[in-house]
Amino acid sequence: MSQLEEKQIKILQNIAKILCEEKKNFVITNSNAGSGSFGKCLFVEDRQDIDKIKKYAIKAQIVIDPHLQIIDNQTLQNCQDEAQILREIKHKNVVRVYEDYLIKNYHFIEMEQCDCSLQKLVESQQNPIIPQKQFIHFANQLLDGVEYIHNLNYVLRDLSLGNILICQDGTLKLCDFGLAKKFKPEMEEQMLLTKSFKGAAFYYPPEILNSKDKLLYSQKGDIQAIGVCLQMIGGIDFPSSYLITKKVNIAPKVDGECNKLIKFILNEDKDKRPSIQMIRQFIYQNLILWQHFTLYQFCKQNQIQKVNNI
Ligand SMILES: Nc1ncnc2c1ncn2[C@@H]1O[C@H](COP(=O)(O)OP(=O)(O)O)[C@@H](O)[C@H]1O
Ligand SMILES: [Mg+2]
Repeated sequence: MSQLEEKQIKILQNIAKILCEEKKNFVITNSNAGSGSFGKCLFVEDRQDIDKIKKYAIKAQIVIDPHLQIIDNQTLQNCQDEAQILREIKHKNVVRVYEDYLIKNYHFIEMEQCDCSLQKLVESQQNPIIPQKQFIHFANQLLDGVEYIHNLNYVLRDLSLGNILICQDGTLKLCDFGLAKKFKPEMEEQMLLTKSFKGAAFYYPPEILNSKDKLLYSQKGDIQAIGVCLQMIGGIDFPSSYLITKKVNIAPKVDGECNKLIKFILNEDKDKRPSIQMIRQFIYQNLILWQHFTLYQFCKQNQIQKVNNI
C-alpha cells in the first residue's frame, strides 16, 4: 500500500470514529463509498430501532483551515449552503438530503443511499453496446433532474458523471450541489460569473473555456455538461479532444440515433445549443417516434390489428 493510500485510510477511519462517537446508533457499513475533490462518502445504518434500520449515505467534508487549524467559516458556509439547497429539493432525480451537522472538524450531510456514481458504473461496464432504450432512459432522467433545478433558478456548474448517482432500480440522481448557485433575474442574460474552474474542464462549455476575462456560466453550460455525460455513457473515455478539435467524436457503445442526439446537444455556439425542451422534442421525434414507427411497420407486416402503445 502506498503512503498516500495509507493516509487516506487513516483519514477515513478518523471520520468514521468522529461520526460514531457522536451518533451512537450508527454502524458504518462502508467507510469508503466514494470520494470527490472535497468530500468523502460513507454508508451507515442507523440501528436505533432494530426493527426499522435506516440506511444513509453520509458525505463528510473537512472545514478546518489547514494553516490556522481553526474552522474556516467560508468553507463551512459553502457546505451548509449545499445541504440547504438539497434539503429544499424533493425530486425523484435529485438525491434527498435529510440533515446536516458539524462534528469537530467535519461537516456531515446525511442523505439517501444510492448504489454508486455513474462514473464508477461507466468505468466498470464491460458491455460493448448500450441499448438505445437504456440510453434514452438515462438521458430523460438527466433532463428531468436538471430541468427541475433550472426551474428553481439554479445553475449546477458541476454536472459530471461523478456527481450523478445510480440506484439499484436504475434511477439516476443528481448530487453534489457544492457549486450550485441561484441566479438573479437582473443578471445580464441570466449569466453567472464563476471565479475559477473547479470542476473537470472537459465538462465546461466552450464559452467558458474560450473566455479570456470573465468566466460566464449559464444554464446552457449545464446542458453542455449533459451532452458530455451522455458522450461518456456512450463509451467515450475522455472527451477532452472536443475542446481542441471541436469535433464530437462518435460514441462507440450507442447507435447512430443516440449519437445524433449527443451531437445535437453539444453545440459549440451557446446561443444555438438546444434548450431542455428542444432536446426532449428531438428525442421524441428522432428516437421515440422512430421506435413506434418500426413497431407499426412490424405490426403491419405481421397483420396485427391493434397495438396498445401506438
Ligand atoms: N447519496 C450517495 N449515495 C451513494 N454514493 C454517494 C452519495 N453521495 C456521494 N456519493 C459518492 O461520493 C462521491 C463524492 O461525493 P460528492 O458529493 O460528489 O463530493 P465532492 O463535492 O467532493 O465531489 C460521489 O462521486 C459518489 O461516488
Ligand atoms: Mg463531486
